Amino acid sequence: MKDFKLEIAQLLNEKINSLSVDDIYSMIEVPGNATMGDYAFPCFKLAKELRKAPPMIAKDIVDELGEVDFLDKVENVNAYINFFVNKVEFVKEVLTDVLTEKETYGFAKEKNLGNVVIDYSSPNIAKPFHVGHLRSTVIGNSLYQIFEALGYNCVGINHLGDWGTQFGKLIVAYKKYSSKETIEEKGISELLRIYVLFHDEAKEHPEMEQEARNYFTKMEQGDEESLALWKWFKEVSLKEFERVYKLLGVEFDSFNGEAFYNDKMDAVIKEMEDKGLIEVDQGAKLVRLDEENMAPCLITKNDGSSLYATRDITAAEYRKKIYDFKKCIYVTALQQNLHFAQWFKVIEKMGHEWHKDLVHVPFGMVSMEGGAKLSTRNGNIIFLEDILKEAVDKTKQIIEEKNPSLENKEEVARQVGIGAIVFDDMYNNIIKDIQFSWERALDFNGETGPYVQYAHARACSVLRKAGIELDSIPNFDVDYSVLADESTVALIKKIADFKTTIKEAANKYEPSYIARYAVDVTQAFNKFYNENPILVEDEKVKNSRLAIVVVTKYVLKNALALLGICAPVQM
Ligand code: ARG
Repeated sequence: MKDFKLEIAQLLNEKINSLSVDDIYSMIEVPGNATMGDYAFPCFKLAKELRKAPPMIAKDIVDELGEVDFLDKVENVNAYINFFVNKVEFVKEVLTDVLTEKETYGFAKEKNLGNVVIDYSSPNIAKPFHVGHLRSTVIGNSLYQIFEALGYNCVGINHLGDWGTQFGKLIVAYKKYSSKETIEEKGISELLRIYVLFHDEAKEHPEMEQEARNYFTKMEQGDEESLALWKWFKEVSLKEFERVYKLLGVEFDSFNGEAFYNDKMDAVIKEMEDKGLIEVDQGAKLVRLDEENMAPCLITKNDGSSLYATRDITAAEYRKKIYDFKKCIYVTALQQNLHFAQWFKVIEKMGHEWHKDLVHVPFGMVSMEGGAKLSTRNGNIIFLEDILKEAVDKTKQIIEEKNPSLENKEEVARQVGIGAIVFDDMYNNIIKDIQFSWERALDFNGETGPYVQYAHARACSVLRKAGIELDSIPNFDVDYSVLADESTVALIKKIADFKTTIKEAANKYEPSYIARYAVDVTQAFNKFYNENPILVEDEKVKNSRLAIVVVTKYVLKNALALLGICAPVQM
């Protein structure tokens, strides 16, 4: 697509020799109000050098520019030069671009920018998959799609919490309080029950703690019986996690969790020792971070066992070696900020220049309307799955009311119900806490997933009515001059912003940019749709407007895909 901003920068560069095209390019603004033009250049910075008042400079440059073929007009308002791009030219550029790229519009054609590792979801074995993990899952998955769209090859890693002293406790609890049959029947909720019971009982019988530690030591030494139990707990948990992933449509490239690094930690601890970073304090090994004003990073406890951070440091080295990542991104709740800050520092102190490529992407908490926290303390894994299922059920009711004759209601209800929750998780800057509300998330007219999906389905339905097969969309004979009205141009402008928006979302690790963008396109599309009858007599007008419907459909579908949300063709 022709970059009008660049053309303007080049044009200005001929008049302003002291600034490079790049400088000018970065100074050009997009006015919030279309009456101020499509692009604007502020002249304040030139005042000193030209020894003229900025409005004078703006006026002189406008006079000098004269007529330009791709611009309808150039004006100066105070210290600004406002540029009005030729509408027909602009619409033609954008439409040609989207109609050429079709369903790949916005997506890189080659994955040649290197690897990006994304560590997301990462629930803990034998513990419930809670709503924090849900947020990590959907945000991580979206970042995955966004970086792939830019041309990176992403590696999605589910860093399962599958190692640690809690497994010793679980083995003791299992032997005392449960059975194979019960666990097979009840899954994680039974594992959780006996885990909680262990803690209650251990208060009275402290020797249980020692027993648990012994089991974990056995596990670390490769004892077959305890490892078999651990492996089984893991399978039981994974089976339940898989159900949630399936509902969400999320996949991973690797399930290498904490346990995977067991035999790799010693070498890394030795490396830290050799580099003089380790201090021994009452038998525990740690790296001091006094200069950084942080508590020390604990590497081993006094009984020699490793910690969460030890495994993260080891995993980072391993990932660098295997994937040679351009970036390694960790998506967790912001409560883990200190943990990541600490061990990122340790990596830096180890002299790894790639410490700067480690990125922690923290997000805020989700609470239920009415104040109850959506935490594991009040509920369990069933709770999260229940929420997802409830979303699907509620959507089914809405469909029953609005469109009872819809084909494959079940599948559409799944796509829309889940889409509603996923979208809601990412509509605001992810660092913000969310007060979840059914009414808001499922409002078909609000700024929601269903609202965007509905616009996509409507675009598909217009095309169907025009007799166009969705999977073989023809080339349209477009008359660009009939597409110069305000609402059409506003929509096309939005559509033109897609690639920049993807870049910004990646730079800021903010899927919310895409969610907001999808809402903007939807609003612009609805306005276009209300103001421009599409299936009219005049073939030229009809085809031209159908082309707009087609490009909108592609953009909405692709934007939703970047959020991990499906775009049903009917709803
Ligand atoms: N399992 C951890 C939790 O549930 C999240 C792990 C995040 N990833 C990591 N590499 N530390 O809180």
